[in-house]
Amino acid sequence: MPKVTITTDKLTLDVKDGYALIDMCEEHDTSILFGCRDGACGACMIRVIDGASNLSPMQEDEKDFLETMAAEPNERLACQCKVHGDIKIEVSD
Ligand code: FES
Repeated sequence: MPKVTITTDKLTLDVKDGYALIDMCEEHDTSILFGCRDGACGACMIRVIDGASNLSPMQEDEKDFLETMAAEPNERLACQCKVHGDIKIEVSD
């Protein structure tokens, strides 16, 4: 079972393979905030510290948005990510 560690919250959770990060955050108290839930507002930006390849691949829309926001290469939109293995993330500044 994949483990999601959110260093900002000092929290590690077990999730089912393919589980959406946004669903996990709705079930637990985390610091990751959501707005549009559709990859358009940037509220849910996270930094992936470890295990980036264990997240669902970035689609064009997310890529374009992150480029517009001048995001770092290890940043993702949590609302667009599904978990397929262990990851370690933090809330972006
Ligand atoms: S909640 Fe708006 S981009 Fe993720």
